[in-house]
Amino acid sequence: MSVSYLDQPPEVQARLARLKARDVILSVDGMSKRFNSGKNNVTAIEDLSFQTHRREFLCVIGPSGCGKSTLARILAGLDTASEGWVSLDGKPVQGPGRERGMVFQGYTLFPWLSVRRNVMFGLRMAGVGKVEAQRQADEWLALVGLEKFADAYPHQLSGGMKQRVAIIRALVNRPRVLLMDEPFSALDAQTRQRMQAYLLEIWKKVDITIIFITHDLDEAVFLADRILVLDAHPGRLREMIEVPLPRPRDAAQIASPAFAATKARLEALIHGKETADEDEPYPAVPLLTDVSDEVE
Ligand SMILES: Nc1ncnc2c1ncn2[C@@H]1O[C@H](COP(=O)(O)OP(=O)(O)O)[C@@H](O)[C@H]1O
Ligand SMILES: [Mg+2]
Repeated sequence: MSVSYLDQPPEVQARLARLKARDVILSVDGMSKRFNSGKNNVTAIEDLSFQTHRREFLCVIGPSGCGKSTLARILAGLDTASEGWVSLDGKPVQGPGRERGMVFQGYTLFPWLSVRRNVMFGLRMAGVGKVEAQRQADEWLALVGLEKFADAYPHQLSGGMKQRVAIIRALVNRPRVLLMDEPFSALDAQTRQRMQAYLLEIWKKVDITIIFITHDLDEAVFLADRILVLDAHPGRLREMIEVPLPRPRDAAQIASPAFAATKARLEALIHGKETADEDEPYPAVPLLTDVSDEVE
């Protein structure tokens, strides 16, 4: 199901049409995931189907507990589906593979390795010789402006720098798909915005399809070509939204009517159903201080 609920400017229509004309990279068909722990059976994902095209930027959004991280783990091959299929370039996904890179929440760098060695790690595992791995690592570090930090250790870097290293570490093996599960949620608001813009810059330069999971509506609208909206309990496809904003994206678009309308649509889809206790008035706060006349 694909709903275009806003007028799509012609250039956006044309871009989305070009996107859908490209090869399907990743396909999820009738996928369900149940967790059976004793008598508690949790259906985390039910009958989910969607496809992403080459060089698409797809965001996945939904309330907490709707199965986003479960989906990321299954796409990564770290967990298996209970039913249905996941295929990459037409081949079933079975276990982790080099054609899928991952950047997950928090910092996934090895603290005991220098920045350069963190980036070299995947290359060395793939059998690339030391000298060549070092050359490639330095090239990637230069791409994200961190060549000066090659010999530093992760604890010496800021949060934004660590996530830049995590991104290139995932890209060195030239994956087809980059899976990102709330990668920027531990960053402060300003660094987060810079990283979003920077990720789009990297995405433009590399032949990569990005599946980016977030619970931040602004982040999803700013980044995505399309947004997969999931329902909770169980996680089901609610809607696939096409983002009506032209590219290249910039911060000025956040103030545009199309941005606001897309965000409002997402808000209605995600929060519309779970407002039961939010409709109740909050109780009056009792007086908790003796000096009550100092603030208004
Ligand atoms: N290993 C597990 N065992 C049992 N239940 C799990 C497991 N992992 C996730 N779940 C359940 O599956 C649902 C989806 O979880 P998750 O994918 O982490 O959601 P999200 O990332 O959207 O917040 C939740 O109800 C969660 O409790
Ligand atoms: Mg999660």
